[in-house]
Amino acid sequence: MVAPAKVNLSLRVRGVRSDGYHEITTVFHAVSLVDEVTVREGAPGTGCVITTTGDRVESVPGGDGNIAAKAALALARHVGRPATDVSIDITKAIPVAAGMAGGSADAAATLVGLRRLWALDITDSTLAEIAAGLGSDIPFSLMGGTARGTGRGEVLTPVLTDAELHWVVALSDAELSTPRVYAEWDRLMAEGLLAPAGDDDVDAPLLSALRRGDPRDVAAHLVNDLEPAALALRPSLRGVLDAALEYGALAALVSGSGPTCVFLAEGRDAAIALAAEMAGTGLVRGVRHAVGPVPGARVAP
Ligand code: C5P
Repeated sequence: MVAPAKVNLSLRVRGVRSDGYHEITTVFHAVSLVDEVTVREGAPGTGCVITTTGDRVESVPGGDGNIAAKAALALARHVGRPATDVSIDITKAIPVAAGMAGGSADAAATLVGLRRLWALDITDSTLAEIAAGLGSDIPFSLMGGTARGTGRGEVLTPVLTDAELHWVVALSDAELSTPRVYAEWDRLMAEGLLAPAGDDDVDAPLLSALRRGDPRDVAAHLVNDLEPAALALRPSLRGVLDAALEYGALAALVSGSGPTCVFLAEGRDAAIALAAEMAGTGLVRGVRHAVGPVPGARVAP
């Protein structure tokens, strides 16, 4: 199974809900950084065994604390399987705790993989419901492409787009937890330093730019309301964004809750040139070139 990372082309925070989550309006976009996940029947009585390889995997929880294991248990419960003895091997290319939904991708790939392994007769929409119970971004990791998300981000509508967008992804040394960044957004709002997004249709210009598919047009409408919170927690990211713009990025923004930064380029050649420049600045831990949109979690081709 493979499952993609996501970038939020737009992430507007509308306010805090009574359940503690934030009401958001977002445009998700799946990109070609993918985790590979293999699921197998485990030996009886072993439970969920997770093996993770790749960059910085020491921060990925093992065993039942891993979101992929939680996905396996939730699916087993849903279909009434008494025990879940599965082995899940994850090869990570998506940066860990970095604002690109890497854990969500692993959970989505696990759901798709186990549906096949256990020959379950359940629909994509049932899988999406189970996914929504596990994490706000997991339904999108299943769907892929480009989609508008509302609620916690789990209520999805696909977005029509002709765009092929070339991104440079800048890896950070630091990690940022999503709850920590939302809490910082709450603090900045309480201090009157930012305001919740209004009820107007904030994404309309972005959605029409995506329909036309011109990256310059798309670049003009990228927005992330969590960026001020991520920058308050990691002020050095400001220099990364500024450098990318100086080296010709059409737009530079923090990805989701960060600290990964993503830069939109005019096309493939521009992205490769920008990646090389950014790698030379010494400001980032590494760079990747990624293209979007790509499909959601699926059996590897
Ligand atoms: O849904 P998920 O488990 O991915 O969310 C992780 C945390 O991020 C939540 O516990 C919450 O603190 C925060 N969050 C939020 N509003 C959202 C999505 C996530 O406050 N829409």
